[in-house]
Amino acid sequence: FQPKVLAGKRVLITAGPTFEPIDPVRGITNVSSGKMGYAVARAAWEAGASVYLVSGPTALPTPHGVSRVNVQTAREMLAAVQAQTEGSDVFISVAAVSDWRVENASDRKLKKSAGGVPALQFTENPDILATVAAAGKAAGRPYCVGFAAETDHIEQYAREKRARKGVPLLVANNARSAMGADANTLWLFDDAGVTTLPELPKLSAARRLISEIARRL
Ligand code: C5P
Repeated sequence: FQPKVLAGKRVLITAGPTFEPIDPVRGITNVSSGKMGYAVARAAWEAGASVYLVSGPTALPTPHGVSRVNVQTAREMLAAVQAQTEGSDVFISVAAVSDWRVENASDRKLKKSAGGVPALQFTENPDILATVAAAGKAAGRPYCVGFAAETDHIEQYAREKRARKGVPLLVANNARSAMGADANTLWLFDDAGVTTLPELPKLSAARRLISEIARRL
């Protein structure tokens, strides 16, 4: 039984990777199973929130009670998020968004030619979390929560990322151990400092995170 700490709240969550096309049969993506974001969506629903999940491509079923929209690219994810931010009390950005997309993507399949390889040009994607955080600053909502998957210098990078994104709460995890795994250790960075949660199955970690967020609202 989960206490309904988010009753009456609207929670917007991104999860999974994004997929940026190179041509109709190829693309670039990030490593993300979506498990953590989906666990957060489920935990938020258990806590009484109405939950809207914007998901990149994953193999996961939609958690019970959660509204889900599927997207492929970072720009589609941004548009889907922006369509929902106004009514949202909390935005939790768990998605592993591609930092770049292919500017010269082809709408026809690129053909192999002897000795030649395609020259891909990359351009930067919008930062969804930073965009939402900046847009909501004046209104004081949604309360924005970012994630950081790091392999080293976790504390330093997490603090820097929290400042750079302009969010009140930044959740760090260890990219080496969390990727695709069923358990996760979360570090929560806010104004007051750091709260370290024990290593837990992702759903248990998500429930703890939701109660930490509810306390800060
Ligand atoms: O900068 P970095 O990708 O490490 O930041 C991770 C955090 O920012 C995550 O919360 C992720 O969902 C979010 N993000 C985003 N849009 C991007 C890149 C990251 O919302 N283009």
